[in-house]
Amino acid sequence: MAIMTASAVPTSVLKPKNSITVIDNRTGKSIDIEITDNSIPATAFSQLKAPYADGERPENDTPYGLRVLDPSFINTAMIQSEITYIDGNKGFLMHRGYPIEQLAEKSSYLETAYLLIYGELPGKSQLDLWSWEIMHHTFVADDLQQMIRQMRYDSHPMSVFISAFAAMSAFAPEANPALQGSDLYIMNKPLMNKQIVRILGKATTVAAMAYRIRINRPFTPPRSDLSYTENLLYMMDHMAEPNSYRPDPRLAKALDILFILHADHEMNCSTSTMVHVGSSLVDPYSCVAAASAALYGPLHGGANEAVIRMLAKIGSVENVPDFLQRVKEKKELLFGFGHRVYRETDPRSKVIREVADMVFDVCGREPLIEVAIALKDAALKDEYFTSRKLFPNVDYWSGLIYKAMGFPLDFFPVLFVVPRLAGYLAHWKQQLDSGKNKISRPRQVYIGKGRRDYIPVDAREERPITAQNGLNAIPHYISKRRLTKI
Ligand code: SDX
Repeated sequence: MAIMTASAVPTSVLKPKNSITVIDNRTGKSIDIEITDNSIPATAFSQLKAPYADGERPENDTPYGLRVLDPSFINTAMIQSEITYIDGNKGFLMHRGYPIEQLAEKSSYLETAYLLIYGELPGKSQLDLWSWEIMHHTFVADDLQQMIRQMRYDSHPMSVFISAFAAMSAFAPEANPALQGSDLYIMNKPLMNKQIVRILGKATTVAAMAYRIRINRPFTPPRSDLSYTENLLYMMDHMAEPNSYRPDPRLAKALDILFILHADHEMNCSTSTMVHVGSSLVDPYSCVAAASAALYGPLHGGANEAVIRMLAKIGSVENVPDFLQRVKEKKELLFGFGHRVYRETDPRSKVIREVADMVFDVCGREPLIEVAIALKDAALKDEYFTSRKLFPNVDYWSGLIYKAMGFPLDFFPVLFVVPRLAGYLAHWKQQLDSGKNKISRPRQVYIGKGRRDYIPVDAREERPITAQNGLNAIPHYISKRRLTKI
């Protein structure tokens, strides 16, 4: 009777269907790993231990178990989540099961924020309470306002926004786990809700303050009788006229739709930062500051600002071919194009395109849109971009809308981070409510220098003082007057 080797017997006979079998060829050991929701626990691989190979570095920790390396989390999930699902291959996005197109058409930003954070669309009384509470937590403490007022008039609004939320953690000692106990947000859900409402309520006030600093005008106190986006526009644009000033409702509505589109996007760079920092049980204001700092980057939320700078640099439709050639030579980046998850289209950019027409009807057509359309059309016909699945993302059009509405360029990322706070808070709450929070502490694969002994400074090799070798000489502003010799 032929001895059936493992490979000869159908795996369906040998192994549970929903599993993988990994054979470690260094030792011949095999492990079966159960597949759950099309995923496997990375920790399973630590069962695969082996002796060091001849000459192998001790820093490889080989006998302690196999590690999984995935810089930038290209194919590694950091959480299980019920909040947002993206089908990148179909260009599909839903929040708690509701497609983004339906929410953009039928919901409001505050209602969508409630859905993201609490899991269901609110009933009328819940929505009324939620909206009332948020619109009555819009004031920023006076001494914090004075602190923010001291920032330079040319401070980037995102620097102001991040600083304000980092500082805000000092203004709520009763909400600080460092002072009140580490399990504060694990145990006290009413206190968690109060901070959620405070953060969403104050976000627009801080954003408006950042704008008023840029234009060197006094801050405008918030109003609680306006909608969320109306109040933001009111605080930004109110002048000396009597309080009867109301922003154009069409622009407030356009901004509300844009806020819905930016409210959450599962584990993007900044939301994963919120979850990562939140895992240490620090207060939510500090988490928001950290997440906002991640969003500030030009590869992430700073892209809508970078898109306009790129379009302005291209300048005209005639210059599009040359610019695309430079992109293909990797001398330029096509900002507003590409996405880590979407491989067909970004569903938000389709809705945003419709909002653009709404805004252009009110504010006039933004001249750069001609360059944007020509650039998009040329790129989508070019194999370099189509083969890399590069197409307009949410930032490609949003910047043109904000420019048409007259927002300064460096304010664009603020218009991204304000609505994204709902997604940050939803994931922060989900993590702390899960009962499974553990501090995030990724592994590493050490490939640095092996163990070596200290060398006294006199025995060290002198290398040229250049930035390539380490610290270069830093130029100082020293007036010539100081160089005179007495
Ligand atoms: C947002 O994650 C989210 O959900 C983010 C976001 C959200 O709502 O939170 O959707 C919001 O941040 C949208 C993205 C905004 N950023 C930009 O528009 C900046 C420009 N885009 C790229 O930097 C890039 O596409 C990323 C950062 C968005 C995605 O980068 P990936 O997934 O790491 O892709 P990659 O760098 O591996 O690129 C694959 C290839 C490379 O070429 P090759 O090495 O294969 O030759 O595509 C090229 C890249 O050079 N490429 C681009 C490009 N994006 C990727 N080439 C030119 N222009 C680009 N924009």
